[in-house]
Amino acid sequence: MRKFYIETYGCQMNVADSEVIASILTNSDYIITNKIEEADVILVNTCSIRDNAEQRVHGRLKLFSNIKKKSPHVIVGVLGCMAERLKEELLENEKVVDLVVGPDSYRDLPTIIKTVESGQKAVNVYLSQDETYDDISPIRYDTNGVSAFVSIMRGCQNMCAYCIVPYVRGAERSRSTETIINEIKELETKNYKEITLIGQNVDSYLYVKENNKVTFANLLKQVAIAFPGIRIRFSTNHPKDLTDNVLQIMAKYNNVCKNIHLPVQSGSTNTLQNMKRGYTREWYLQRIEAIRNIVPECAISTDIMVGFCGETDSDHQETLSLIEKVGYDFAFMFKYSERKGTFAARKMKDDVPEEIKVKRLNEVIELQNKLSTISKLKDIGKIFEVLVEGVSKKSKNEMFGRNSQNKVVVFPSTVNIPGDLVKVEITKCTSATLIGKLI
Ligand code: 5AD
Ligand code: SF4
Repeated sequence: MRKFYIETYGCQMNVADSEVIASILTNSDYIITNKIEEADVILVNTCSIRDNAEQRVHGRLKLFSNIKKKSPHVIVGVLGCMAERLKEELLENEKVVDLVVGPDSYRDLPTIIKTVESGQKAVNVYLSQDETYDDISPIRYDTNGVSAFVSIMRGCQNMCAYCIVPYVRGAERSRSTETIINEIKELETKNYKEITLIGQNVDSYLYVKENNKVTFANLLKQVAIAFPGIRIRFSTNHPKDLTDNVLQIMAKYNNVCKNIHLPVQSGSTNTLQNMKRGYTREWYLQRIEAIRNIVPECAISTDIMVGFCGETDSDHQETLSLIEKVGYDFAFMFKYSERKGTFAARKMKDDVPEEIKVKRLNEVIELQNKLSTISKLKDIGKIFEVLVEGVSKKSKNEMFGRNSQNKVVVFPSTVNIPGDLVKVEITKCTSATLIGKLI
């Protein structure tokens, strides 16, 4: 048996894809290893979202060249979004690379590896209209045994002006409801306690079979009812598509976690329009209102991007004021990075100077750090149900888990095991964690 090693960069979709890849290769002639030095095949599942994500992979490829110098039989493959974006160019510019396979062509990997073994380099970057890998049972090779991602759709066609995803992941398509439910059943028998339904835009999940249409709200409800002992999360939502229906299901079912990730990107209607996001500042704030009204205990997180084409200082001030107004519990924050081929790269000028981008990003980070701390201070004295994930990295006498709001909670315990649901009273916090005691 030949051994493969896989490294994953980028979002949750890539994590889920690597689990599909592991399944495809394991069902062929390969076994997985977590030791790179043992591998006959080294695979890197890549991200193209920002230039720095790609630079990291180029750095890894240098290391793989050193490995290959010592063991020339080793095969190196680039998979995922960067493979799709750069195609043959990767073979030309990175001599170490033997194969390039895009997100919709993983079923072809065993054949492609054989081609490489016979002495040729190989590329498959075909994008499909209907591939969802729905019959493949992912292998969770890097798992805490408690929580897992379940992919419900692939691709994206929102065409935000800055975003490379539609070009590297192709058209949006939804996985069959039946195979989603079956995958969760399998996880349940393996004692998993939490699943996250993932897709680039879960709100536009739509599975049509005969005359029956399943929307995301329907799917969420079905899953909540079928698996009362499993916590359910989902990500990512799009502000233009998030319906009250989904919020009502969140509110109604206890096992649906009270946390929503709703990327805003900018607080300025002008910038949002330039970004082609399909909503205004007011619309977004009205969605936040709906969350607060329907699911009062819901935590809200977001993605924010500063320095997009044409962003003025007053646009930036609007972003800061929106962040403050919403009072996010958590945020991912980025500087705009131009991606070749996108609408913005073709039609707009990347005209915010780097030093202004840095300054704006720092302002956003500083404000959000303050809000993240406030959000945790508010939890002191509250009692949360916490799903235990493992022993704390800092001390073997402490364990950690998450509450429904997706906040990490640390508490002294030597008696619990991962997968336990415990009640913890919060006594203090750091900027990133809640600290409490078992009750
Ligand atoms: N530059 C910087 N950040 C980006 N994102 C998407 N495209 C870009 C880009 N070109 C951010 C958005 C998105 C998150 C996943 O990554 O905030 O929500
Ligand atoms: Fe990166 Fe986007 Fe691809 Fe995820 S879908 S790996 S974030 S480029």
